[in-house]
Amino acid sequence: MQVIIVEDAAAVAYLGAQMCRSALENKPDTVFGLATGSTPVAMYNQLIDLTQNSVISFCKARSFNLDEYIGLSANHPQSYRWFMNQRLFNHIDIDINNTYVPDGAIDPQLAARQYERLITQSGGIDLQILGLGRNGHIGFNEPSSSLVSRTRIKTLSGETVADNSRFFAEGEFQPSTAITMGIGTIMEAKKIVLLATGTEKSNAVKRMVEGSLSASCPASALQMHENTTVLLDEEAAGQLSNKAYYQQVQKSTNLLSVGG
Ligand code: F6R
Repeated sequence: MQVIIVEDAAAVAYLGAQMCRSALENKPDTVFGLATGSTPVAMYNQLIDLTQNSVISFCKARSFNLDEYIGLSANHPQSYRWFMNQRLFNHIDIDINNTYVPDGAIDPQLAARQYERLITQSGGIDLQILGLGRNGHIGFNEPSSSLVSRTRIKTLSGETVADNSRFFAEGEFQPSTAITMGIGTIMEAKKIVLLATGTEKSNAVKRMVEGSLSASCPASALQMHENTTVLLDEEAAGQLSNKAYYQQVQKSTNLLSVGG
C-alpha cells in the first residue's frame, strides 16, 4: 500500500486525475472502476477539463461503477447512474454504452451476477477509483462484509444512510439497500486508487492503513492488494502514526507509477 499525503482536497483531485491520465496514456482502452459520492467530484471535474482540452480521451475506455441504490430508477436524480451521467459521462467523450452501473430495477440478484460476468468479459478492471466511508466501507461493503465477497445486494448501515441523507430532500424516499461490487471483486482490479479527504475520514483512514485486517473495517482488505495507492489530504491523514515514513517514501517515488 502506497500512502501519499498532499496538502488539500484540490491536490488529491489533481493527483487522482493525473493517475487516470497516465492509465489512459498507457492503455487507451482502460477499464475504469468508478465511485460516486462527494470525494471524487473534484477529480471528475479535472478529467472533464483534460478531455475538453484534448489532453486525454475516453473514446476507447470502459467503466464499471461500484454500486447503485435499489429502488431508484436510472433517471432518478439521486441514482448513481444519474450522478455519473451528470458529473462525468455527459462531459467526456466516453461511449455511454461502454459505461456500466449496476441496475437492480427488475431482478437485483440476477443483475449482480450479470455484472460480475460483464466485468470478466471486459478483461477485468485496470484502474479502480474508491472513496472511503466513515465506517470504513468501500463501495457499499459495510462493516462485517466478507472480505472475499462478490457483487451482491447489501443492506446499508444506519451510519451510511445518515451520511447520505444530505443528498435527499426531507421526506423523500431514501433507499436502504444497494447492489455493490464485493470486496473480492474490487481486489481483482489491477490497480486501485483510494481518495479520502477531510478530518471526518481520518479515523477510517487510520483503521484502513494501520489497523488490523478485519471485516469490521472493509477497506483494511486493501492491505492485501499489491498495487493500491491511498491519496490523502493532510486532514484525512491526521491520525496516522507512521506519517513521517509515508512522506519519506513519497519523496523518493514517481507518484504516477506507484504501488505495493
Ligand atoms: C460510492 C461509494 C462509497 C463512497 C463513500 C464515501 O459509489 O462507493 O463507498 O465512496 O461512501 O462517500 P463520500 O465521498 O461522499 O464521502
